[in-house]
Amino acid sequence: PLYNSMFGLSELEERIKSYFGLSQVIVVPGDSENSMQAKRELGKAAGQVLREALKPTDVVAVTGGTTIAQVANQLATSTALKSVRFVPARGGLGESHDYQANTIASTMAKRTGGQYRLLHVPDHLGEEAFASLMQEPNIQELVEVIRSARIVVHGIGDAMVMARRRKLEQAMVDEIAEEGALAEAFGYYFDRSGAVVHKMQTIGLRLDDIVKTEVVIAVAGGKDKGEAIAAVMRFGHNDVLVTDEAAALEIADLI
Ligand code: BG6
Repeated sequence: PLYNSMFGLSELEERIKSYFGLSQVIVVPGDSENSMQAKRELGKAAGQVLREALKPTDVVAVTGGTTIAQVANQLATSTALKSVRFVPARGGLGESHDYQANTIASTMAKRTGGQYRLLHVPDHLGEEAFASLMQEPNIQELVEVIRSARIVVHGIGDAMVMARRRKLEQAMVDEIAEEGALAEAFGYYFDRSGAVVHKMQTIGLRLDDIVKTEVVIAVAGGKDKGEAIAAVMRFGHNDVLVTDEAAALEIADLI
């Protein structure tokens, strides 16, 4: 629309960066929802951001999703990062194998020569299962590692798309919709203003960890995700946003 003809990608980056007070915004050309090429570019750009941020003994927590899977696939390092540990941010969030955080963490480790740890817990944990899993020393130890992450790399989804993808019961989907959920990231649902309206009961990184994490990198694109991305940026704890032109134009229309 209006922005297309008036501004280039770097103006879009600057505008989004200053509006949300981010330290870095990268906008790649195209619409990653309809173009695999654009999605690969998104992954590549985010991979570069991650590589530049990495320090030798970092713990990196990653979420699942098709976008972060592309980050993993495009990640490259010239020297091995032997002591960097990649971990899933949270327990299985109902994704299919290729897009699970566990799979992504192991791919990133293999591509960079780093280490990885897997968290084998299901999503949709009931109170009791949650409490008893948290008693397991192995899980406790891994959760401590996850919560110590200096870098978090996460995707952002449309709330309803993610609720369905995770096969939530219809009553729960309705409830989340009524609460005004627009966006989803790392198992939390956010409304338009960036307030958390719902969370998935699972093990791993919590919201207060995100708030304290030194480098939080969001990677999400596609025209339909513009509103969701803006909502998570309003939550206000991201440092870097890597997105595409289609989403950035939507975001610019909202701010
Ligand atoms: C999930 C993440 O696995 O992927 C979420 O836990 C994110 O944080 C979602 O919202 C995004 O998925 P995609 O496939 O649209 O990148």
